[in-house]
Amino acid sequence: MPENRFVGAAARNYDKGAADMFKPGILNPTVDCLAEMAENGPALEFAIGTGRVAIPLAERGLSVSGIELSADMLVEFRAKPGAAPITTVEGDMATTRIDGTFSLVYLVFNTITNLTTQAEQVACFENAARHLQPGGRFVIENLVPSIRRLPAGGMSVPFALSQDYVGIDEYTDLTHRQLFRSRHFSRRTDGCFVESGSPFRFVWPSELDLMARIAGMTLEHRWSDWSRAPFTGESTSAISVWRLRK
Ligand SMILES: C[S@@+](CC[C@H](N)C(=O)[O-])C[C@H]1O[C@@H](n2cnc3c(N)ncnc32)[C@H](O)[C@@H]1O
Repeated sequence: MPENRFVGAAARNYDKGAADMFKPGILNPTVDCLAEMAENGPALEFAIGTGRVAIPLAERGLSVSGIELSADMLVEFRAKPGAAPITTVEGDMATTRIDGTFSLVYLVFNTITNLTTQAEQVACFENAARHLQPGGRFVIENLVPSIRRLPAGGMSVPFALSQDYVGIDEYTDLTHRQLFRSRHFSRRTDGCFVESGSPFRFVWPSELDLMARIAGMTLEHRWSDWSRAPFTGESTSAISVWRLRK
């Protein structure tokens, strides 16, 4: 079982910390696009969290289910009014089975990188395939690794810098296991900074395509955002859509 990092205060404060991701300008195009990809069929979210995406998707009239590793995140999810019609199972998205087959399985907000080995990421694709109807879609939202921003010989890339918060991605293995650690330095009320962070496995779109192929899927679309802007060599994020072969 992968380590559960979304426990206690991390789960209780998740919505506050991810407030930008709840803004209509980000969330509405996400939900619009996923609703279209589901084609009115049932949808399954891997790593459903506190229901940021699943709840508004269910409010569109879709049947939505979710798999989530963290019991504490599910407590936060269940406390929300829109959660009632959504079935969830506590478990690892790489291995856990939930009843039913789905026209859409989706995994957003860079969460494939929470699986820190290639074997687990491949297993996640295989588990998505296990849940899909023939021709069904698997959608992943994931950052393009920021390695081109590394200074020559350097291993760290800052991604946020303000009076009260500094964020740095520190790469620890660029070529073999593809590991980095996001380090967050937050100022407390007493003025001191505290550090938190977690490890991730970065993965290129091309490697995701190979994992999809292993799981019997073919690439249908790749966009750089949920409004379907074209994906280019300058894109910092990728929305990838694969279909399970019929
Ligand atoms: C960044 S949050 C995203 C939550 C939600 N999908 C969203 O977009 O707001 C990552 C979530 O992935 C969950 N998670 C991490 N590893 C997991 C795994 N192996 N299986 C299922 N859930 C996992 C965490 O517990 C957390 O709820």
